[in-house]
Amino acid sequence: MEQFAQQMETARRMVEARLARFFPGDGLAEAMRYSLMAGGKRIRPILAMKFCEAAGGTPEEALDFGCGVEMLHTYSLIHDDLPCMDDDDLRRGRPTNHKVYGECVATLAGDALQAAAFETVLSAGGEWRHGGGAAKAMAARILAEAAGERGMCGGQYWDTLGDGQPHTETELTEINDKKTGALLRAACMMGVAASLGRRFVDDSCMEAAREYATNLGLAFQIRDDMLDVIGDAGAFGKPIGSDASNGKTTYVTLLGLEECKRRVLDYTAGAKAALEKGKWPGGTEFLAALADSLANREK
Ligand code: IPE
Ligand code: IPE
Ligand code: MG
Ligand code: MG
Ligand code: MG
Repeated sequence: MEQFAQQMETARRMVEARLARFFPGDGLAEAMRYSLMAGGKRIRPILAMKFCEAAGGTPEEALDFGCGVEMLHTYSLIHDDLPCMDDDDLRRGRPTNHKVYGECVATLAGDALQAAAFETVLSAGGEWRHGGGAAKAMAARILAEAAGERGMCGGQYWDTLGDGQPHTETELTEINDKKTGALLRAACMMGVAASLGRRFVDDSCMEAAREYATNLGLAFQIRDDMLDVIGDAGAFGKPIGSDASNGKTTYVTLLGLEECKRRVLDYTAGAKAALEKGKWPGGTEFLAALADSLANREK
C-alpha cells in the first residue's frame, strides 16, 4: 500500500508539472488555469499513464493524452457548476470559475479547454514519437466520442433535465455511465492506444480497459453521490447537499446509503476482474489498487 501511495504521488507530480506548462498569460488563459491547476485528483491522466504501462509502454508516452482528458474533464466541471446546470459555488476547494470570472468567461474557459484537449492529444510529444500519427488519431477519436452526445454531454443532458429525472436504477446507471463513465473509459483506452504505435498489443487489453473503466466509472459516481450526502466539504472540495438542493435522483435517493456501499464494492470487484481478461505485457497491480482506493475515497 505504501508503494501504491508513492506511485500515485509520482504520477500525480508528472501530471501537475506537464499541465503547468499550458496556458501562460492572462485574460482567458488565466481563467482556464484557475480551474485546471486547482489540484484535482488527476485520476484520468494517471489512468492513461498506468494503462499505457500495463500495455507495455511508458507513462511518458501517455502523458499528453492524459493531459488532454484532464482538460476536457475540467471543462466539464466548469460548465457543470454554472447556474444553468448544478449552480455550485465550490470546486476543487476554491470558488467556482463563474464565481470568480463571471458566467461569460467561465463558459469560454470551458469551451477553450475542450479545444485545447484535442490540440494536446493531436500534438502529443515529449518522449513519445514513433508511430504517433495512428495512435494520436485513435486517441482523438476515442476522446471525441466520449465527450459528445453519446458520452459526457449526453449524460449531462439527462442529468440536468428538471422533470426528466430517472425513475429506475437502469436509467440512472445509463446516465452515470455517460456523464462520468465515458471520460474515465476514454482515459483508460487512450492509455492503451498510446502504446499501440510502437508495439503489438493484444486486442484483449483494449477490451479489458473498457470493461475496467465501465465498472470503475459506476463505482466512482455512486461514491460521488454518497459523498454529496456524507462527505466533508473541506476534504471533498465541493459543496455537500448539492444534489438534494437540485432535486436530483441519485443512487443514494434510489437505494439508500447502505446499498450504495454494496454497489461500490461490487463494481470495484468488477473492475478488478476485468483486468484479468487482458493479456498484458506489463503489470496491473497498480490499477487494481487504484480501484480499491477510489472505493473508499473521501475526496
Ligand atoms: C468529479 O470528478 C466529477 C465526477 C465525475 C463525479 P473528480 O472526482 O475526478 O474531480 P477532480 O478532478 O478530482 O476535481
Ligand atoms: C457531473 O456529476 C459529472 C460531470 C460530467 C461533470 P456531478 O454533478 O455529480 O459532479 P460534481 O459532484 O459536481 O463534481
Ligand atoms: Mg452535475
Ligand atoms: Mg455537479
Ligand atoms: Mg456529484
